[in-house]
Amino acid sequence: MVNVLVIGSGGREHALSWKLSQSSKVDKVFTAPGNGGTENNISIDIDDLNALADFAQKNNCFTVVGPETPLAAGIVDRFNQMNLKIFGPSQKAAQLESSKIWAKNFMKRNGIQTARFEIFEDSKKAEEYVKSLDYNVVVKADGLASGKGVIVCNNTDEAIAAIHTILVKKTFGDAGNRIIVEERIDGIEASYIALCDGVTAIPMATSQDHKRIFDDDKGPNTGGMGAYSPTPVIDDILAEKIQNKIINKTLQSMKNEGIVFKGFLYAGVMIRDNEPYVLEYNVRMGDPECQPITMRMDFDLYDYFVASVDGTLSMMPQITWKNQSSVCIVLASEGYPESYLKDEEITGFDLIPKNAMVFHAGTKKQDVKILSNGGRVLGVTALGDTLASAISNAYIAAEKISWPHKYYRKDIGKKGLSYI
Ligand code: AMP
Ligand code: GLY
Repeated sequence: MVNVLVIGSGGREHALSWKLSQSSKVDKVFTAPGNGGTENNISIDIDDLNALADFAQKNNCFTVVGPETPLAAGIVDRFNQMNLKIFGPSQKAAQLESSKIWAKNFMKRNGIQTARFEIFEDSKKAEEYVKSLDYNVVVKADGLASGKGVIVCNNTDEAIAAIHTILVKKTFGDAGNRIIVEERIDGIEASYIALCDGVTAIPMATSQDHKRIFDDDKGPNTGGMGAYSPTPVIDDILAEKIQNKIINKTLQSMKNEGIVFKGFLYAGVMIRDNEPYVLEYNVRMGDPECQPITMRMDFDLYDYFVASVDGTLSMMPQITWKNQSSVCIVLASEGYPESYLKDEEITGFDLIPKNAMVFHAGTKKQDVKILSNGGRVLGVTALGDTLASAISNAYIAAEKISWPHKYYRKDIGKKGLSYI
């Protein structure tokens, strides 16, 4: 038996810990630093690579990395040097997420469909460029900015303001030393995530996130306010197209460039006229997409993580999914993604029906109490025989949970219903 160390503290990490702890091969699951819902929390920061490696070594752990920051910092390379088993991409492979410019150039030289773009470090040149265009643009900071360095613009004035925010005001610090100005693609967005071992990519169930804070996709972008799986937005034909033209092509092109991609490869795609365009790559599971996806898994996730690390995914049996829909509703602190209160007591956990799970994100335990401790606080996730029933089950459960400044969207999954 082996122990597992899950690195991170969000809903995604709670869901991964929950699923991995069900494996007959796994003894104990530790989470660093974890949250109020995860067990065996270890108080080591996700950026303290030495302390994490030391812990994994002393406790015979197979390590699973949730968020992008330690991946971009090279945690996988560090663990590999010490002969420690760790699931996730190397620092070089993580560039697909850690540098948007690197990713765009990679797509361009390998013919992977994405929005047309130009790169700038000079704000005047960027302004002249957007003035010359006859289409709307999106302005993106190059580096990691916790999902906030992307500004979707409705006209030239907004584009100029966005350029100013990133390049002149440096709102995202050094992550905004360079920007991408790219064509805005208006279509339908979905998440396509595959488990990779450098050569083989096994698709996970499809899903759709809800990035904006308010109903009907209004207001600023967030880390994600809810997700459901599977999504009818990606039918079998489109899934095959994404798998071949994006995922397999990315994996093969990385290999051709001497980079072995292991871990979750997440393509955020926009679908326009039945064609998928890559908006972004992530080199990890999505959060909250991970929560409904793991609830539908009918296989031992640990086995597949090991096969990813060992490069043996092609030898694994086909994975199977619960033939049900799953919906995750993120309960957030009112005010998120701006400022919000913390330390409010959360109640109602004992009232949650059996078909639902409450994955914790921004929570902490204080004696027997659970307190809010972040913007996205909980991900209430439920199964149902249809998307409509999963939505209804998730909302019934979400309403059982209370705290003074609880906020959540009321329309999670609605976009999917309009497709059925
Ligand atoms: P990203 O972090 O690059 O995925 O961008 C965050 C969000 O901005 C995406 O989920 C989309 O909703 C939106 N977005 C990014 N790029 C584009 C684009 N080229 N066209 C339209 N929307 C975009
Ligand atoms: N939910 C979007 C992300 O994880 O990046």
